[in-house]
Amino acid sequence: MKLIFEKSQEGRRAGTLPSYDLPPAEVPDELRRRESPRLPELAEPEIVRHFTALADRTFGVDTGFYPLGSCTMKHNPRVNERVVALPGFRDLHPLQEEVGAQGALELMWRLQEILAEVCGLHAVSLQPAAGSQGELTGLMLMRAYFADRGEGEQRKTVITADTAHGTNPASVTMAGFELQKVETDSRGNLDLDDLRAKVNQETAGLMLTNPSTLGLFDEHIEEVSKIFHDAGALLYYDGANLNAVCGISRPGDMGFDIVHINLHKTFSQPHGGGGPGGGPIAVREILEPFIPAPAVVRDGDEFRLDYDRPKSIGKVRGYTGPFGVFVRSYAFIRAYGPELRRMSEVAVLNANYMLSRLKGTYELPFERLCMHEFVLSAKNLKRDHGVNALDVAKRLMDYGFHPPTIYFPLIVPEALMIEPTETEPKETLDAFCDAMERIAEEAASDPEILKEAPHRRPVRRLDEVKAAKRAIVKYGFDQHPDLRGDRAEGEAVEAQRGA
Ligand SMILES: Cc1ncc(COP(=O)(O)O)c(C=O)c1O
Repeated sequence: MKLIFEKSQEGRRAGTLPSYDLPPAEVPDELRRRESPRLPELAEPEIVRHFTALADRTFGVDTGFYPLGSCTMKHNPRVNERVVALPGFRDLHPLQEEVGAQGALELMWRLQEILAEVCGLHAVSLQPAAGSQGELTGLMLMRAYFADRGEGEQRKTVITADTAHGTNPASVTMAGFELQKVETDSRGNLDLDDLRAKVNQETAGLMLTNPSTLGLFDEHIEEVSKIFHDAGALLYYDGANLNAVCGISRPGDMGFDIVHINLHKTFSQPHGGGGPGGGPIAVREILEPFIPAPAVVRDGDEFRLDYDRPKSIGKVRGYTGPFGVFVRSYAFIRAYGPELRRMSEVAVLNANYMLSRLKGTYELPFERLCMHEFVLSAKNLKRDHGVNALDVAKRLMDYGFHPPTIYFPLIVPEALMIEPTETEPKETLDAFCDAMERIAEEAASDPEILKEAPHRRPVRRLDEVKAAKRAIVKYGFDQHPDLRGDRAEGEAVEAQRGA
């Protein structure tokens, strides 16, 4: 497919504006362009076809099964889009005075209340705009809490699991803590002996996903929580996997003091490709004074923003947070009502169904029931046929499926992390398992077909290292500064040429 600039024909236009008999705008000479901007020149039908063709190549949860582990790519009910587009929500200015925004404030307050209940905690701030920002905010609360107790200098380390998502260690470091990792035991739980050896009076807290990124619920979570609380430390719950436990178990009851919730995962938002997201945090009472300001509060029948929070860590996001995300998640939760628990039950059931179908074909590192996702290993295919997890993932694309997360968590070699979610029917789960089984057969009979996959997608296998290290995402005019440098004259820039 050609790029839009390659289709451009000088002088072609999608539309023209009438020239009015008005005086030219008063723009100072030094601010005036000397040359016209370089824009593609096409007629409207060509533009429509160009972008429609691009859209057709996009794979999303609306076009097929998307079992990307840890990302919870579930169906986004369309009614949420109707609700968020109601003029009263859509057209509301973020600086609207409180008296004219009572409905929006009430919605936020109600969402806070629901999230506090789901987490089993006391107070919620909706401000953080992503899980990772929730993590950083939560760790800033930990800092503020210990500083307030005069233990700011003493509490230096935060412990994470060796299965942790990459954002956890990054947030720990950004928040100014030292990172310590604890190992996973043979059943996929935190290794309690390793943990006991590492937790001491210098520990500020634990940061844990439960169920973990292995899709396993920690069997000793109460003991873990006791170890930290006995040492005066706090527990942070990375709620990215909350889809497994809603209405069944609550992080606050497990002993966690701070939680972030990925609204865009558990409570549905069209996400992927970077947003929009929401990463509210929920905290235990002792941490409430420190949550971001302004907080949304209720006074009798009125709702308002409370800035009078002397111990608050301050604002972490513009205005009051990503409001459209709140409306969609609120609509999603209210549509379920008390049935929210069923969402998690079906997510767990779907994952266990697939696990039981696939565990004979691929290796299962931890022989346990899983939660909402599970991790297999393609180690057997690698050993027997020289085919790896990446080859399996690429071949799945030929069968019309988005690949699962691969090579994560890091402790599982050749990992394939599969999360079906609750919104997929049995036929889809079966079709995916059939494809996984067929791929394992192909690995034995014709490994090359896997090594060269995908064969039937618009783009063949790309150089992943180059794509990551030298991503070129803009059209390269000759003089484009991004493209100057180590390229020999005349050398093609493959990444830009499309397939
Ligand atoms: C386990 C886990 N923690 C944290 C995050 C970070 O969330 P976000 O992508 O919203 O920043 C993710 C995201 O995939 C995750 O899977």
